[in-house]
Amino acid sequence: MKILAISAGSVAGNTELTLLTALQAVQAVKPDATIQLIRLEEIRIGNRLITGQFEHPFTKEQKRTAADSGPDDRPFVLEAIMEADAIIIGAPVLNRGAAGLLKYFADKTLGPFQDVSVATEMVAQGRGERVDQRILKKRVAALVSVGGAVSSDWTTLGLPMLHQLLFPMGIMVVDQVHIYGAGLPGSVVLDDDALSRAAQLGRSLVEQASQPVEGRKYAGAPGKCPICNLNVVALIGGNQVECASCAARGTVRIVDGEVVLDFTQEGLNSSVFRMQALVEHGAEIKKVAGELRPKMQEIPNKVKPLLNWGAAITLVPPSLSG
Ligand SMILES: Cc1cc2nc3c(=O)[nH]c(=O)nc-3n(C[C@H](O)[C@H](O)[C@H](O)COP(=O)(O)O)c2cc1C
Repeated sequence: MKILAISAGSVAGNTELTLLTALQAVQAVKPDATIQLIRLEEIRIGNRLITGQFEHPFTKEQKRTAADSGPDDRPFVLEAIMEADAIIIGAPVLNRGAAGLLKYFADKTLGPFQDVSVATEMVAQGRGERVDQRILKKRVAALVSVGGAVSSDWTTLGLPMLHQLLFPMGIMVVDQVHIYGAGLPGSVVLDDDALSRAAQLGRSLVEQASQPVEGRKYAGAPGKCPICNLNVVALIGGNQVECASCAARGTVRIVDGEVVLDFTQEGLNSSVFRMQALVEHGAEIKKVAGELRPKMQEIPNKVKPLLNWGAAITLVPPSLSG
């Protein structure tokens, strides 16, 4: 079994120490496991969103601009992800959400570039040779969020943002935890409860990864949303709610002063964490592109005056002004 941890925290920081504690517990229950840690702080990604020197996994297209020179470690990280059977992602909470480094990495490497519904469709169409079919492996994941604050108000978007990383690959999250009060460098090692929870998370990950796929279960604390087990909810009109983390749709009612969320099967299937929603999203993107494509020739004439005007007000950073 191959277990990969990815840290978006500072090198040797609280996130990394929490992940190492979880990984040591993995080693204790699974001594023959291959255990690896990648620090995103050490990964060179490049500075352009979407375009970059990373080869698109499905189209094999490689858009490269002068600004994209320099090393690119993303294929290395992706290879480790593809090889892993189980993944732990850890990130500190910065400014109430998971560290931007994590999202930056995901936006440039994962998401639509590593989409299990696209890969499944390409295999079904006989174009499987263009896909890294290791994406179809049924992996499990655990999520670790770490913050200095001691209450939920300063940590709200930590775990929800961590969830966004792996769902396009169809990876099931089997445990998750937010560690509160890690307020000084390395101080998490003083928190016995946090360390023992991290160790438990490592053991749960191995236990669930060892189960046949249909027998795998979520082993963490339950949440109001039955899919991502979090409690962040968007109010979308009337009594309708949408899970702000995974987009499962339901209704809200109050019973004896308690909030109760009810989800139908249809509402659960609209969660972006479900394959059906990934497939529908793919169809939606194709539909939108299909409707826009005949009007493409109108774009240059409309874009030109806007960009000409924009050039006059765009500030050139010192690093580009030479
Ligand atoms: C710029 C900055 C913003 C932060 N914002 C938050 C926050 O909103 N909520 C919180 O709980 N902790 C916040 N923290 C504290 C970090 O989450 C905490 O120090 C964490 O242990 C750092 O993780 P690391 O050691 O793995 O890098 C912030 C720290 C920094 C430097």
